[in-house]
Amino acid sequence: MRLYINVDHIATVRQARGTDEPDPVRAAVLAELGGADGITVHLREDRRHIQDRDVELLLATARTPVNLEFAVTEEMLDLATSWLPYQATLVPEKRQEITTEGGLEVSNRSAVRLEAALSRLEAAGVRTSLFIDPDVETVRRCADLPATAVEFHTGEYSNAQDADERRRQVERLRAATGLARELGLAVHAGHGLTYENVAPVAAIEGCEELNIGHSVVSRAVLVGLERAVREMKGIMRRARGA
Ligand code: PXP
Repeated sequence: MRLYINVDHIATVRQARGTDEPDPVRAAVLAELGGADGITVHLREDRRHIQDRDVELLLATARTPVNLEFAVTEEMLDLATSWLPYQATLVPEKRQEITTEGGLEVSNRSAVRLEAALSRLEAAGVRTSLFIDPDVETVRRCADLPATAVEFHTGEYSNAQDADERRRQVERLRAATGLARELGLAVHAGHGLTYENVAPVAAIEGCEELNIGHSVVSRAVLVGLERAVREMKGIMRRARGA
């Protein structure tokens, strides 16, 4: 099973100060050294974290495949078909949301737009994935579209308040995965996965890729802090000739 690391929140910290650090592209190199099988970035319409330049640098330097997430807009499709990432994941996007709150709506109406977007990406040689809720009906609709994969939104699983609800959500993910595989779709999953809750999802047969961002970046801040402080103290000490 592949692990794609989402480095958006490295850029979130950078944007909070408007400087050039921390750099998500450097973070991607470190994630690769740690064993990441791919790097994910979400280029949002409002550019709140990842910037166009980040994507360009990442595509020029990443040693692993890049998964570019974006909303289905003409602007994003133009960028993606000129940049040609390994994979494009189409996601819903609302301006006011803190993070991607739910999966794509795949109705008869939206299917026309999705089909056009997927066909454009496919013609450009980009592998495609649709970020959806793990619903049987939505999976069936996706199977009628020219997508390579679906990524199941694991938010409801991650937010489950008790063991029963968690079990129910794992079963829901497992059933949706089984159906998607039967219908010829590759299966990915992600959102809200943490060190504590990832195992039952990682164990689902047929799911071949996880996309994880916030929890890994959060842990990196903590496990790296001790060393970072020690390095700053070392520089201060040496400045006084100590
Ligand atoms: N997959 C998709 C499609 C996402 O939009 C996100 C969040 O940007 C993730 C996975 C990763 O979620 P998290 O940051 O909660 O691990």
